[in-house]
Amino acid sequence: MKINGSHYRSIWLADDKRRVQIIDQTRLPHEFVIANLETLEDACLAIKDMLVRGAPLIGATAAYGVCLGLADGVTDSHLSYIAKTLKAQRPTAVNLAWAVDQLENQLLEYPEAERLEIAYQEAARICEEDVQTNENIGLHGLELIKDIWQRKGAKDPVQILTHCNAGWLATVDWGTALAPVFKADEAGIPVHVWVDETRPRNQGASLTAWELSAQSIDHHLITDNSGGHLMQRGMIDICIVGTDRTTYTGDVCNKIGTYLKALAAFDNNVPFYVCLPGSTIDWEISNGLEGIPIEERSADEVLWVRGKRPDGTVDKVKIVTDKTPAANPAFDVTPARLITGLITERGISPASSEGLYQLYPEKNNS
Ligand code: MRU
Repeated sequence: MKINGSHYRSIWLADDKRRVQIIDQTRLPHEFVIANLETLEDACLAIKDMLVRGAPLIGATAAYGVCLGLADGVTDSHLSYIAKTLKAQRPTAVNLAWAVDQLENQLLEYPEAERLEIAYQEAARICEEDVQTNENIGLHGLELIKDIWQRKGAKDPVQILTHCNAGWLATVDWGTALAPVFKADEAGIPVHVWVDETRPRNQGASLTAWELSAQSIDHHLITDNSGGHLMQRGMIDICIVGTDRTTYTGDVCNKIGTYLKALAAFDNNVPFYVCLPGSTIDWEISNGLEGIPIEERSADEVLWVRGKRPDGTVDKVKIVTDKTPAANPAFDVTPARLITGLITERGISPASSEGLYQLYPEKNNS
C-alpha cells in the first residue's frame, strides 16, 4: 500500500539482504518509524511487544526471525531452540507456529551449510505468498461489496464496520478484512468504513484509521460500544473482520470485542464476514472456546492510554487511580453460528468444517 505516494510493505529486507526492516506499529499513527531487526531477540521482541502484529505479519516476522537466529548457529538443536523461542512469543495467532514449522521442517532436509540461504529464500516465499493470498481474499470480498452496492441501487456508499486492524499492516500487504475495502475503492465502488477504536491498544484508531486516511477512503472512528446502535438503525451493511485463529469448524478467534459485534450483527440481520488466509485455520482444534489459548496481556495496556498532546508531543496517561487493577484478555471466540461466511484466498465458505474442507480438500483426512 502507499504512504505519501511511496509503496511500502510491512516487512522487507534491508540492502544488505540480511537485516530485516519493519514499520514500528507501536509508534503509529503519530510517528512513522522504521525499525531494524538484526537478531533472533529483536524478532522475538518485535512480536511480543507488538511492533509487528496481526496474524499473517507475525508469521512473516517469525519466518525472518528463524533466518536471524541461524546467524548464530545452524545445527538441528539450535534450529529447534530458535523455533521454540519464537513460538513462545504470542500464543493466539496460529500463523506464528505455522510459519516457524514450515521453515524448521524444510531446513532439516538440508545440509547445515545451506540452511541460512534456504531460510531467507523460504521467508521471502512466505511473504510473497501472503501478498498474493490477501489480494485474492480482496477479490473474493469485492464481489460481496459489489453485490451490496448494486442491491442498494449503485448510488450510496456501502457501509462497512470493522474491528481492530486487519489492514495491510496486519499482513505483508493488502490486509485481510481491509483487502476487499481496498479492492472496492480501486474498482470505484464507494465505501465508508466504521472503525472500532479497539481498546485497549486501539489498533482501529491508530492503524486502521491511519491506513484508510492514507488511501483517502471515507471512514469514521467509533467507540467500541457504538456498533450495536448503528446496526439497529440500519447504518451498517456488512461487518468484515480478520482473525488470529479459526478452527476448521468455523469458530473465529479475533481481537477482544469481536464476539459482541457478531452478536449485534446476528440480532440485526447484518451479514458478518471474516477474512482469513488458509494459514490462519487451525486444523486440529474443533471447539474454539475450549481449545484456543487466549493471550492475557499486561494490565498496563488497559490502565494507560497513549496519544498526542496539544503541544504535539506523544505521551501516555493513566486513566484510573493506582488503586484500580485491570484484566486484559486480548482475544475472544465468536462461535461459527454467528458468522455468515469466511472469505479465504480460495473463495467464500460457510463457517463449518464441510465448507472449509470443500475449499481445502487436502486437509480432509477422513
Ligand atoms: O493483537 P493483534 O493486534 O496482533 O491482533 C490482531 C487482530 O486481532 C486483528 O483483528 C486481526 O484481524 C487479526 S490478524 C489479520
